[in-house]
Amino acid sequence: MTDPVYAASESRYEQMPYRRCGRSGVLLPALSLGLWHNFGSFKPFQEIKAMAHYAFDHGICHFDLANNYGPAYGTAEETFGHLMADSLKPYRDELFISTKAGWDMWPGPYGNWGSRKYLMASLDQSLKRMNLDYVDVFYSHRYDPATPLEETMQALVDIVRQGKALYAGISRYPTPKAAEAFRYLAERDVPCLLYQDRYNIIDRAPAEAGQLDLGWQNGTGFISFSPLQQGLLTNRYLNGIPADSRMARNTSLKQSVLTETVLESLRGLDAIAQRRGQSLAGMALFWLLRDERVTSVIIGASSVAQIEDNLKALDFLSFSEEELQEIEQFSVRIRESGI
Ligand SMILES: NC(=O)c1ccc[n+]([C@@H]2O[C@H](COP(=O)([O-])OP(=O)(O)OC[C@H]3O[C@@H](n4cnc5c(N)ncnc54)[C@H](OP(=O)(O)O)[C@@H]3O)[C@@H](O)[C@H]2O)c1
Repeated sequence: MTDPVYAASESRYEQMPYRRCGRSGVLLPALSLGLWHNFGSFKPFQEIKAMAHYAFDHGICHFDLANNYGPAYGTAEETFGHLMADSLKPYRDELFISTKAGWDMWPGPYGNWGSRKYLMASLDQSLKRMNLDYVDVFYSHRYDPATPLEETMQALVDIVRQGKALYAGISRYPTPKAAEAFRYLAERDVPCLLYQDRYNIIDRAPAEAGQLDLGWQNGTGFISFSPLQQGLLTNRYLNGIPADSRMARNTSLKQSVLTETVLESLRGLDAIAQRRGQSLAGMALFWLLRDERVTSVIIGASSVAQIEDNLKALDFLSFSEEELQEIEQFSVRIRESGI
């Protein structure tokens, strides 16, 4: 049943910048919302709904999912399906929804990696869970060294031809393999719309490995995940580990990363942000968005207040050379400590 109360804000497109995704007709919001954590079965639906509505009301029209987001596996997609049924269905054509397959999902040989068998079955399951006829982007979630690249890419091509996804994307591919994938897809008139990888002040791998340049030259958009290094690049851990935080769960963000050196450097970054009149999260997001090769950044959030704070990154203050150098020094210190 649709929610009689929800009507999206009429001003939802007024503040958000939209950036062209590679050489395509698609514009993506500078900030996208990811449903990896905090949208699964453990979070009350009313809180999830408040976050999704707040995001959409402020122009965040791209929601990023994967088959195994939750926890538990599949439950973020199920929650998204409830959101569609509850209140978002009338806005389907205003939403850009992605999902993925490539990591562990179900037992046995067909529930992981990059076979055609896995990708095809997984997307069918995802569409059912999400209450959707199609997704906007379907990603191969990671490179599979054991499956011929052609098999994985042909599955993406066929999925697009079947109309189950409008565009194809890849995530976490080594640069030479991403180049091969881009070529394969382009030769079949299904150009790769998006390349997704972790990129933030601390983790510079996509820039250093040439992914950003490769995507830019190929006309493929780049979308950064974990732009806040799972919450480390925020004020969340500056004074201890809050009981309701991701780090307290000690799963994907380990408590062991929070050494004295890291904490000191995070405090240093926070001081720069404060001087600029921004939150650390806002500065970290803006640091990414100042690069025109970055189409969008996918934030995670556990509350409406965090989304509100992150939207302030869009106040687009430029960096001085001194600020960039200072950020660089703290970033190097954090990386050298082993993160
Ligand atoms: N392709 C891939 O392999 C891959 C891998 C990982 C993620 N992703 C995608 O990227 C999305 C984002 O990843 P992520 O969740 O790691 O992103 P992130 O934005 O780096 O971290 C999100 C976490 O940071 C904290 N946070 C966010 N804003 C805050 C603020 N303003 N102040 C204080 N704390 C704040 C929250 O932690 P608390 O929960 O502790 O409050 C939140 O859950 C995922 O949802 C998924 O869609 C893709």
